[in-house]
Amino acid sequence: MNLIFLGAPGAGKGTQAEVVSEALNIPQISTGNILREAAKNGTEYGLKAKAAMDAGALVSDEIVIGILKERIAQDDCQNGFILDGFPRTVPQAEALDAMNIRIDKVIEINVADETIKQRVSGRRVCQGCGASYHVDYKPSKTEGICDKCGDKTVIRKDDQPEVVLERLATYHEKTAPLKDYYEKQGKLVTVEGQEEVADTSKLTLAAVGA
Ligand code: AP5
Repeated sequence: MNLIFLGAPGAGKGTQAEVVSEALNIPQISTGNILREAAKNGTEYGLKAKAAMDAGALVSDEIVIGILKERIAQDDCQNGFILDGFPRTVPQAEALDAMNIRIDKVIEINVADETIKQRVSGRRVCQGCGASYHVDYKPSKTEGICDKCGDKTVIRKDDQPEVVLERLATYHEKTAPLKDYYEKQGKLVTVEGQEEVADTSKLTLAAVGA
């Protein structure tokens, strides 16, 4: 199954994509994680992307489409994949269609902006493997330490309140139009984000038929 997870920054795309990835045994492809890794490693496109990410803006379509093409050509995507954070603009969605890749469902996780602002303030991410936690809703077993790799968990640079406002504005302007785009293709399924992660997971798993 080839899935897209759509939603505002902090809506829970990554959290739910991880759950569905385990349930369906297909990889979760987070363009945000790939870009953060490239920025950390100081690659040419990583450094270009970092400035945009730190400001809450989108990285250029050209860079992101290139990354995506390379990633979905890999062997582990042959039986399906979950795109977490791609596409984010209409030109990205059109590029995906032009690749002749069948998309089965687009899962939109709908969460109000006010809830998002509260949520991202509690998010912690692993500086090593990128795993995501929340101080109240999804704490790591030992505070400040990643359950998966044992590295430190930190606050993401783009989770500062003023950058979050910018990311939300970018989402409403550039990404929200994709709801119409996929509604017209008959692929959009909206999941209402719940207060508890597990409650959203139940709705998301049902939406993908897992
Ligand atoms: P990216 O990393 O994709 O960030 P994002 O879309 O802004 O999404 P987030 O990772 O912030 O949130 P999420 O929806 O995955 O929520 P999460 O599950 O972590 O992208 C970062 C940047 O990269 C972009 O700003 C852009 O610059 C660039 N970029 C990436 N892709 C691009 C593209 N295609 N084109 C151009 N540029 C691109 O949940 C958030 C928190 O809430 C967590 O702490 C979680 O534990 C908690 N939580 C989740 N669900 C619940 C719940 N139900 N109840 C309570 N807490 C919850």
